[in-house]
Amino acid sequence: MTKRGLRSRLGTMSKMVESFRVGRTIPRNLYGRDEPDQTVSLVTDALDKWFALLDDGDYDPSFAAPPVVRTHAATLISREVLCADEEVVKLTFAAVDGSALPAWAPGMHLDFYLPSGRRRQYSLCGEPDADTYSIAVRLVRDGGGGSPEMHTLQIGDEVAIRGPRNGFPFVPSEHAVFVAGGIGITAIISMVRRARECGMDWHLVYCGRTRESMPFLDEIESWEPDCVTIRTDDVDGMPSSMDLLGNAVSGGSVYVCGPPPMIDLVRASFDSLSATHLHFERFSPPPVKNGREFEVQLVDSGDIITVGSEETALHAIRRLKPDIAYSCQQGFCGTCRVRVLSGTPQHRENRLTAEEQRHEMLICVSRSEGERIVLDL
Ligand code: FES
Repeated sequence: MTKRGLRSRLGTMSKMVESFRVGRTIPRNLYGRDEPDQTVSLVTDALDKWFALLDDGDYDPSFAAPPVVRTHAATLISREVLCADEEVVKLTFAAVDGSALPAWAPGMHLDFYLPSGRRRQYSLCGEPDADTYSIAVRLVRDGGGGSPEMHTLQIGDEVAIRGPRNGFPFVPSEHAVFVAGGIGITAIISMVRRARECGMDWHLVYCGRTRESMPFLDEIESWEPDCVTIRTDDVDGMPSSMDLLGNAVSGGSVYVCGPPPMIDLVRASFDSLSATHLHFERFSPPPVKNGREFEVQLVDSGDIITVGSEETALHAIRRLKPDIAYSCQQGFCGTCRVRVLSGTPQHRENRLTAEEQRHEMLICVSRSEGERIVLDL
């Protein structure tokens, strides 16, 4: 092959790889960093080096790297009540300028920046091929106000969205058991749709308080009945580990999304199973492990707040500052980062860089090494 021909072929490969990089297939990573995927980066870097070797002086490796658009203005185009208790709505958004939104895959989620300034994450639960994004939101009246605000959105309202991000990747395999609790079905349902398309051997266990509280029942009950177990607490009682995992098979995968007790039950039982891969996503904060009581001082007011051994600093601070910004409560979105003015943080996350950790902390997960920490709040 001539140098020109080789270069042309490599150029095509590079554009294909770069088209993944700019967001059509591989989104930003969970921590919002610029590198979407290390493998893609290695391939594109290697191709750039090949071009440098072949270069006759006019090759510019930036040709295939247009600016990455990571935040989109989106407008609500559809609002649909999804279950009988009317507390879950499906919201569908399109780009304000009518452009195509970055593609997504089952398990991915979006960050929403709401008009109030709140930031919240929701799993994508529509059709991956559509040029729209659909999410489903359960109304939580005693939470931080994010879901009531989402429920007040009207057709035509605009929000900023960021992502999609890949916090709960689905990898088609021969066999998988899917376990969904309540609104956790939003992260699971697109995985099951994909499993059905792929001809996988699969089983879904979908649990809820009552049938009236469970979204997507019509669709799920139209699937192969032998592959679906629907349980409601009011009729069946709380599920046991066997109820949730009885269909797991040797070498198969388990995907679970639901409330903390369900995830803890699955995790505690998983070692006794022959299934080999466990994937889970929480939609509420994990319990604090090995916590020690400490004090937080807020520099603006001078107030001192005691953080109990089993609560987070965020939880304690919200008693005095209920409007403080937060979102994921799991240490990956960065919304709750705060400057540390005095004291030594005990970092329990991988989101901040080492440099950032020298003077900031994520108060939803990180704690204090010493008796007291002073925060720029
Ligand atoms: S709320 Fe997301 S990192 Fe703290």
